Amino acid sequence: MSTHTLGLIGSAAGGLENIRTSLIEPAITRGWQVAVTLTPTAGTWLEDTGELARVETSTGLPCRVAPRMPREASPHPPIDCFLVCPASANTVAKLALGLADNQALTTVCEAIGTQGVPIVVFPRINAAHARQPAWESHLSALNSAGVHLLTGDEYWPLHEPRGAPAGKDLPWARILDAVDSVTPGQSTSSTD
Ligand SMILES: Cc1cc2nc3c(=O)[nH]c(=O)nc-3n(C[C@H](O)[C@H](O)[C@H](O)COP(=O)(O)O)c2cc1C
Repeated sequence: MSTHTLGLIGSAAGGLENIRTSLIEPAITRGWQVAVTLTPTAGTWLEDTGELARVETSTGLPCRVAPRMPREASPHPPIDCFLVCPASANTVAKLALGLADNQALTTVCEAIGTQGVPIVVFPRINAAHARQPAWESHLSALNSAGVHLLTGDEYWPLHEPRGAPAGKDLPWARILDAVDSVTPGQSTSSTD
C-alpha cells in the first residue's frame, strides 16, 4: 500500500514520451502513488501516441489536462511531493512568474505558495533557452521560493539546439532519488 503520492507534472519537452516506463513505473516500484497532470501541449503529444491511456492504466488515476468544472471534485488525491519533469523552458518561465493559464501550472503555482509540499523541477532545456535574458532570474525566483531545481551538468549538460548526442536520455533514477530525498518519510532506493 502506497503511503506517498507524487504529483507528476509533464510539459512538452524531450523525454515526455518515456515518462510512463522511465519515471512513473519506477516511482510506483519505489512505493509512490503517481498522479499525472500534463500541459495542454504535452496532453496532445501523449494522446497522439496512445500513451495517455497507458499512463492512466499504470497510475490508476485520470491524467489531468483540462481544468475541472467548478461542480466537479478534484480527481487526484492530496500530493506529498510535486515533480515537474520534463519541464520545458516555457513552463519554467511561467512558473517563475506565477502564470497559471493551464491546469498543470495552476497546480504547481498553488503548491509553490503552500508550505510543506516539496517541489522538484527538472528543466529539460538547451543552451539557447538558458541564454534567454530572463532565464537566470526565473531560476533565481524559483530557488528563492524553495523549489528544488535539478540543474547543472550532473543532471543535464546544456547542448546547442538539436546538438544533444543521439539517444541521450534523462537521468531518471537521479531525478527520482532527488524526489525521495526531499520528501519526509520517503526512503531513497537508487537504481543508479
Ligand atoms: C518535437 C519538439 C520537442 C521539443 N523539445 C523541447 C525541449 O526539450 N525543451 C523545451 O524547453 N522546449 C521544447 N520544445 C518546445 C515546447 O514544446 C514549446 O515551447 C511549448 O510551447 C511548451 O509548452 P508547455 O510548456 O505548455 O508544455 C519542443 C517542441 C517540439 C515540437
